[in-house]
Amino acid sequence: MALPEQLSPPRHIAIIMDGNGRWAKQRGLPRTAGHAAGAEAFRRIANYCRTLGVEYLTVYAFSTENWKRSAEEVAGIMKLLRRYLEEALRDMEKNRVRFRFFGDLSRLSPELQTLCHDAENRSEDYDVQVNFCLNYGGRDEIVRAARAFAADAAAGRINPETLTEESFSGYLYSAGVPDPELIIRPSGEQRISNFLLWQSAYSEYVFMNVLWPDFTSAHLDEAIAEYHRRNRRFGGT
Ligand code: FPP
Repeated sequence: MALPEQLSPPRHIAIIMDGNGRWAKQRGLPRTAGHAAGAEAFRRIANYCRTLGVEYLTVYAFSTENWKRSAEEVAGIMKLLRRYLEEALRDMEKNRVRFRFFGDLSRLSPELQTLCHDAENRSEDYDVQVNFCLNYGGRDEIVRAARAFAADAAAGRINPETLTEESFSGYLYSAGVPDPELIIRPSGEQRISNFLLWQSAYSEYVFMNVLWPDFTSAHLDEAIAEYHRRNRRFGGT
């Protein structure tokens, strides 16, 4: 563990797990092999975050745009998620990790939906939390929140004049979860790609030149060290 003690980790880290396809291509492998290696990287980094004392880890596993990929690739990612959740449910009492899913799960297979709901329900008393963004889009999340708020207002349950940033946050998938202090995007791309648009208002972004399947605990240490070098002012001086 290379992280110096004074560099306490952020409470909430979010990661865009990017570069799986390129990793596979470099090796002459199918894209699904890249996602399988990406799922291994996720396991590695989730364990390391826990060792460091990170309270929340949010990962972009499947976006609302990812349905445009080939049926084979989509099925491959869904299979990896299914396998992971089956494993997580089996080891639930041992690992004591809380699971949340951000996104519209209704488009997933009934089997995967059941696994997601079971994982959420069975883990709600645990503290360390992993949030999977699944069929997730940041704009979609905000539109859904606006719709739910408008429905409450139309039904007279809330006075629109009283809406605040904080109360609006309660309509998002991430209700109750503090905003991420650090968002990491590996693979060399420098885009937000519709990830946590509302929640990232004051997040530090760290872009790294490593493909996600190659991401190690040393890369996470490096991202946290970079986060500490930034002077976070929240718009003040
Ligand atoms: C982006 O890389 C990655 C995805 C769209 C899928 C991420 C999914 C996983 C890592 C597996 C999920 C399962 C678990 C257990 C976490 P890309 O395919 O866009 O890479 P490229 O830009 O190099 O093509």
